[in-house]
Parts: sequence; structure tokens; C-alpha cells
Amino acid sequence: MTMRADYIWMNGKIIPWDEAQVHVFTHALHYGSSVFEGIRVYETPNGPAIFRGREHYERLLYSAKVARIPSPYTVDEYLQATIDTVKANQQRSAYVRPLAFRGYNTLGVDGRGCPVEVIIASVPWGAYLGKEGLEQGVDVQVSTWRRMAPDTLNALAKIGGQYVNSQNIVMEARDNGFAEGIALDINGYVSEGSGENIFLIVKGKIYTPPLANSILGGITRDCATQIAQELGYTVTEAVLPREMLYMADEIFFTGTAAEITPVRSVDRLPVGEEQRAAPLPERIRRASSALSKASARHISLADDGGISLPPEIGCGCL
Ligand SMILES: Cc1ncc(COP(=O)(O)O)c(C=O)c1O
Repeated sequence: MTMRADYIWMNGKIIPWDEAQVHVFTHALHYGSSVFEGIRVYETPNGPAIFRGREHYERLLYSAKVARIPSPYTVDEYLQATIDTVKANQQRSAYVRPLAFRGYNTLGVDGRGCPVEVIIASVPWGAYLGKEGLEQGVDVQVSTWRRMAPDTLNALAKIGGQYVNSQNIVMEARDNGFAEGIALDINGYVSEGSGENIFLIVKGKIYTPPLANSILGGITRDCATQIAQELGYTVTEAVLPREMLYMADEIFFTGTAAEITPVRSVDRLPVGEEQRAAPLPERIRRASSALSKASARHISLADDGGISLPPEIGCGCL
């Protein structure tokens, strides 16, 4: 189904969805000169709430700095524009896609002579790796595509052109009958999925690759780490050889779109033993979901300015 909404925010104004258009000579279309975010708005008892909105927009500004795409707006302006967009679309929950890109002027690869344009879209979007995947786990493969070497592109920034690498990973996986691919880094160590960070649980300890393994510093990764620590687990950032994927008792992906999705098999080898009671990813997912949907240190779209975080959860994840 085509993704759409009634309204979209473009260059400072809310306009009808179909009026948000660009010229085919737009620089970003040719060279991927754009930076973007993916943000979720969850329904809460106090109205829709933006999940970690400030951090997402701080990352957008960081990506813009790295890509040398000057952002015309501040974090606060982006947050307000997000609220305005979700309100205009009368959405109770949404997936929000902010995008800043080099527009139309010249065609040289150095696009700094092109104007910067910005959109914020808010659309309905369910479970990225499927509802069943969220509940039952997904089957994945180790990709033949590697993540970019650290001195080639900017893994820590969400820059449009870099997502050709993610497209290679996910298209190969889907063509081979898997839901997603796990990419290794340039040295053959576990990096991340095409649009998700990865966590492994081995003998009760949780591991995730560090930033130096060409991963995006995921906001959900940070949240899952905090929740796991609050549940009493040790979370270690470690360089992980590929075979740890086959040793792991549990594996899960984290990401704004994928939320927390368990991995059921890697390269057709089942992860851990079957029939485990209340696996950790599920517990983290429930905690995360409870946090995101029912509690908040959030920017509420309701007029009361948000509700306070329940002390028993005590995690600054929103
Ligand atoms: C390549 C990549 N890794 C990881 C993630 C997860 O990051 P986050 O949790 O901030 O959505 C994303 C999604 O933005 C991504 O595109």
C-alpha cells in the first residue's frame, strides 16, 4: 500500500501531501545528498508522545554537520514542526520521517551550491519486520555485503546515500528468503542489520558491537541497554566474531522501525534452544513498549506537557 498522509511539513509550512514535490534535477536524487531520521510517535493515555524526539533531532543535526548540509532549523524547531505535522494529520501514533536534502540548482558532485530543503512526514507504519516477526522472531542471514570501512563513509550518521549499503543487505536477504541480513564490518566482525542494531545474549550476558564496528549509534540500542541494565543484566560492548551468532542463546535487533525484534535463526541455524520461557528480548520489548506507550519523559502532543515517569520503571528512555 502506498504510504501517505493528508498533510506534510515542507520548508516551514504544513501543506497537502500531494503538493510536496521536487524537481528531477534535485541534487539528492542523483547523489544521495540527504540526511534523515526515523522517529516513532506512540499513543499514550495523555495523547500521542514522541519517543526520544530530542535525541533523534540531535542526531539529525550531527548527520547534517558531517554531510556539510547546513540545517535551516534547530532541534526545538524540528520538534515543534513534528508536533504540528502529527496534529495536522490527526494521528494518535505515527512513524515520522524528517529529511533534509540538497535541492535543485547545479549538478556538480559538490552540491553546496544547491538550496537545502526539509520535509517532515508522519505516516502510519506498523512492525517493520512484520507483526509475526516481532512476536515469533525473524530468520536472518549473514550478508555477503560488508558495512562500510570506517574511512569510506560515515556509519554514525544517517546520510541518504549510505543506505545503498543497507539496500544491498536487505534485498539480498529477502531474495534468499530471509527477513533481514546481518552485515559484518570490514574486518569480519559482527556489525548490524540493514536498519537495526544487534544484541547477543551468551550465557546470561548481553553483548552488542561498539561504535567502532561501523554501526549507527542507535537510539533504541541505547534504550534497550538501559532497560537491560535496569533488569539486572550486564551489557558489554564487544567486538564479536561471526560465530558468536551461532553460539548465542538469544539475539535481538533494535531500531525505531523494527523496535525490538527477536532473531529466531541465523543462516538457518536456530538461535538457542526452542521453547524458552519468557526470553529476555520479550521482557525488554514489553518493558520498552510499556515505557513508550504508557509513560513518558516525553514531549506530549496533548496540552498538559507530558506525564511523569513511573518511579518503578525509572528509565530516561523517552
Ligand atoms: C543502519 C541502522 N542501524 C541501526 C538503526 C537503529 O537506530 P535507531 O534505534 O536510532 O532507530 C537504524 C535506524 O535508524 C539504521 O538505519
